[in-house]
Amino acid sequence: MIEAVKIKTERLILRQWQDADRDPWRAMNADPEVMRYFPAPLTADESDALMTRCRDGIAQHGAGFWALERMQDGQFLGFVGLNCIGHDIAVKGQWEIGWRLARHAWGQGYATEAATASMAHGFGPMALPRIIAYTASTNLASMAVMQRIGMTHAAAEDFDHPLLPEGHPLRRHVVWEKIA
Ligand SMILES: CC(C)(COP(=O)(O)OP(=O)(O)OC[C@H]1O[C@@H](n2cnc3c(N)ncnc32)[C@H](O)[C@@H]1OP(=O)(O)O)[C@@H](O)C(=O)NCCC(=O)NCCS
Repeated sequence: MIEAVKIKTERLILRQWQDADRDPWRAMNADPEVMRYFPAPLTADESDALMTRCRDGIAQHGAGFWALERMQDGQFLGFVGLNCIGHDIAVKGQWEIGWRLARHAWGQGYATEAATASMAHGFGPMALPRIIAYTASTNLASMAVMQRIGMTHAAAEDFDHPLLPEGHPLRRHVVWEKIA
């Protein structure tokens, strides 16, 4: 097991997951607005399973989808970080940057602040040559974060999500990239 990196920014801490994150994490994954660009909100069991995958990824790689904590009051806000894509989609095997915040944490620049620090970790200590991000083609809030952290649209790599049927409004996915 690699020691989990802890990253601090001006207002935020990106850290390994803790048991106390489980309940606020379940609540945000059950929020239809947070999960608007995913097929469905998550059940408690699905949320727990994803928390375990995030935790294991950080334990395995040192970096991962870190739990995001506000420094000022210790409030859990969601996750931001880096992930080696393991599931069977067109971008499998590549390192992605991703984010999901509870609704109360939107509109304050937290995703951009944490993503900037994650990028620096990916291109610095991890020496990744390229980091991608992908999302449903209608998820403008997520693409705005990509743009703010200096990513550009790698349109030739856009893909249809294999788990969503033809005609599903979330099927088309865009791929953005940043080169080291
Ligand atoms: C994607 C997501 C993280 C974006 O959140 P966000 O709050 O729009 O993004 P940021 O945290 O970077 O905040 C930027 C906003 O904060 C504002 N802001 C306020 N105070 C700020 C500050 N001190 N510094 C920077 N920005 C600040 C910015 O002006 C911007 O507002 P605008 O969108 O009205 O222009 C959020 O919508 C989310 O979690 N969605 C659900 C999950 C999801 O879809 N994830 C992506 C799937 S791939």
